[in-house]
Parts: sequence; structure tokens; C-alpha cells
Amino acid sequence: MAFVLDLTFSSLLPVALLLLTLFIWFYASSKPQQRLPPSPPKFPVVGNLFQLGLYPHRKLQSLSRKYGSLMLVHFGSKPVVVASSADAACEIMRTHDLVFANRPKTSIFDRLLYGSKDIGASPYGEYWRQVRSICVLQLLSHKRVQSFRYVREEETSLIVEKITSFSASSPPLSAINLSDLLMTLTNDVICRVALGRKYSDREDGSKSMQIVKEFVELLGTTDIGDFVPWLGWLRHLNDLDDKVEKVVKQLDEFLEGVIKEHKDRKNGKANTDDGIEGKGSDLVDILLEIQGEKSTGFTLELDSLKAIILDMFAAGTDTTYTVMEWAMTELLRHPEILEKLQTEVRQVAQGKPEISEDDLDKMDYLKAVIKETLRLHTPVPLLVPRESTQHGMNQKITKKVLIVILVCRWPDIGGV
Ligand code: HEM
Repeated sequence: MAFVLDLTFSSLLPVALLLLTLFIWFYASSKPQQRLPPSPPKFPVVGNLFQLGLYPHRKLQSLSRKYGSLMLVHFGSKPVVVASSADAACEIMRTHDLVFANRPKTSIFDRLLYGSKDIGASPYGEYWRQVRSICVLQLLSHKRVQSFRYVREEETSLIVEKITSFSASSPPLSAINLSDLLMTLTNDVICRVALGRKYSDREDGSKSMQIVKEFVELLGTTDIGDFVPWLGWLRHLNDLDDKVEKVVKQLDEFLEGVIKEHKDRKNGKANTDDGIEGKGSDLVDILLEIQGEKSTGFTLELDSLKAIILDMFAAGTDTTYTVMEWAMTELLRHPEILEKLQTEVRQVAQGKPEISEDDLDKMDYLKAVIKETLRLHTPVPLLVPRESTQHGMNQKITKKVLIVILVCRWPDIGGV
């Protein structure tokens, strides 16, 4: 009897599966078709992730040429809409800005930026509004940026002096590492503005700057586990966890030291030889003031203060010096443009040994060169992704959608 029952069950199973498949197919095809952006073919589980290669912005640009300025790809299990025209970007950043105000949570950002308490990664809400208003009104207001003009001018003069002394050295140097000089210039300016001192001229300075460099590099690292959760174990193979933990610990010690130094200076306990500037308030001073004030209506916790300072390094260092490096590269590749620019600079400077920021304002050709550099070699070719706060663009996508905005639209693959 048991044998007969078994036989009946196993012979019915394929029929039942066939009926179920037909039912699902019929149900799915009877639903009205949803309109989704065009998509390139994808692999199971990883989606289009491994098609992106070493230069995702280039690959996405070439795909978007084929599939259009609004294209749907999949990073593992995450649906990602790639917008690559000015109109599409405007729809996302202006018309529907609130829906796309969030940035996706990533495990690395979360750990490096004190639980995403910084300006860029904090989720949309009251805190998001507060840190942005601190940034716009206090840290990066026009008046504040102007107040640090002397720092930019002093540091630029020092770099010019260095280059002059290199070229006057005997025997003359055959080459100068301009990349190193520009990186040091940017770091020194950001350090003086944000932390009240530069570190490049201190014995332990290179160690501090190395931690910041590793931090910026880690922010650009992708943890596959964020897209394909069951492949998260891969991060143990490349020591990503250990690297992040090491940098988090070292950064925190460094920032604790910076904050203590500022509090000591305020309380008159500063060591006069420690190199910290007495002039004006740097960004740490301003944030400590906000922390102590009751007028803002909210308390700025220590972790938030540290995360905001880290944002200034993450957002302000690589972006600035890579633009300068590319501008110099393009000028050397186009000597006729270099000559035209030199003529403008000489005309405006009129023999003065140093150029001030007021002079820069009069250099229209220089501004055009910088804009063209930004167009060809934009430092952030894939605008830091956004994540929709609403589920799905329509019923077919049931997850929160990631939005990536492709800024570069070169006539052909090139640039960055
Ligand atoms: C050539 C230099 C720079 C370029 C090309 C650049 C570019 C960008 C881009 C594309 C974004 C993302 C905007 C978005 O997703 O809506 C951004 C955000 C940001 N940048 Fe810059 N940036 C530069 C310099 C700086 C500097 C010097 C600082 C500060 C010291 C800074 C601070 C920030 C901050 C705090 C954010 C986050 C804003 C937010 O999430 O709302 N940036 N930047």
C-alpha cells in the first residue's frame, strides 16, 4: 500500500509543478506591464556588479549610450538607476530631491564616520537638517571661507618658494614631483583651516596624514557584502575588517588629541611650541563653540563633531588636488593654452612677485581652464549615490532604489 501511495505522489509532483509554473506565468503576464528603465542583461545573484570593472563610471557611460540616460542596473540584489543626462539629474536632485535626499547606508561609511553622523551620510531628518545648517551657515559660509584667505595665500606662497628653490638648486633638478607638492598644499590648507595647524612639517606629521589618507581611501572601498549579503564573508579574506578597525581606532585617537589641544588652548593651557595657531577660529573651535552653546536648540555630540571634521578631509582633499593635478597635466599637453594662460597671469600680476585672491578674480581665462578641467576630469564622476526613501519606482521594484548620477558626458571615452 505504501508503495502505491509513493508512486502516486511522485508521478503527481511534476504535474503539480507544471501547473504551479503555468499559474505563476499566467498571473504575471495578466498583470498590466510596468514601465521600467531599459536594462542591460545581468547575471544571477551578482547582477551587473562584475561587469563594472576597474572604472565603473566609464563602463556605465558606455552602457548608458546604449540603454539611455535613465538605465536600470543591479548591484547584487540592489536595483540601481543610473541617470546620465542633465534633465534626468535635475528630476532627481531638484524635482524629487526629498525622495532622494538619503545616501545608502554602507558598513564602511558607518564605521568610519561614527555611525554616519557626518554631513554627507546622515539620513534625512532633523539631524540631517541641523548638520547641513551648521555646514552652510558656520563652517563653509562665504564669510568664513574669506576669513581663511590668509591661510590659502600663505601656503600657496610657500609652494611657489619651494618650486623656485628647486629650480635654482645646483645642479638643477631635472623634475619636480608636482603631484606631491599639490597634495601637500591641499592637506596643509585643510589642516590649518579645520584643525588649526598643519602636520606636514612635524616629525609625527606624516603618520597623522597617513591615517587621514587611509581613511579617504577606505571611504572609496566597496564592501561586496553591502550588495550581496551572503558574500559578506569575503571581507575577511582581504582583511578589510581589520583595516577599517585599525583606521577607526587611530583616527579616533588623533581626533581626541586635536580636541584636547583646542580645549587646552581655550583654557590657556596650550604649549606655545606646539604649532597650533592663535589667529582666528578654526573649524574645530567653531564646532566646540556650537557644542557649548544652547542657542542652536540641539546638542552636538562629540562623535558628530569628529564625523563633521572627517567630512572636510574626505570631501575637500582629494577633490581639490586632483583638479589641480589634471589642470597642470592638460596644460602641459596643450602648450598653446599654457602660453595663453601665462600671458593672462602676467598681465594681471603686472610684475608683482605674488598673486592675491583678488587677482584670481580678474583671470577669466584661468577660470575657463578650471571649468574645462572639471568637465574633462571631474573628481566625482559618479555622484555619491542616493537612495530613495520610498519603496520602488513602481510596483515591479519593491526595494529601495539606489540612484547613481553619472556626471561625465564626454564625447568619447576619455577623461578621468
Ligand atoms: C574641486 C573641489 C571639489 C569638488 C569637485 C567637490 C564636489 C562635490 C560633490 C560632487 C559633492 C556631492 C554633491 C551631492 O551629492 O549632492 C560634494 C559634497 C560635499 N562637499 Fe565637495 N567638492 C569639492 C571641494 C570641497 C571642499 C574643499 C569641501 C570642504 C572643505 C567640500 C565639502 C563637501 C561636503 C561637506 C559635501 C557633502 C554635502 C552633502 O552631502 O550635502 N567639498 N562635493
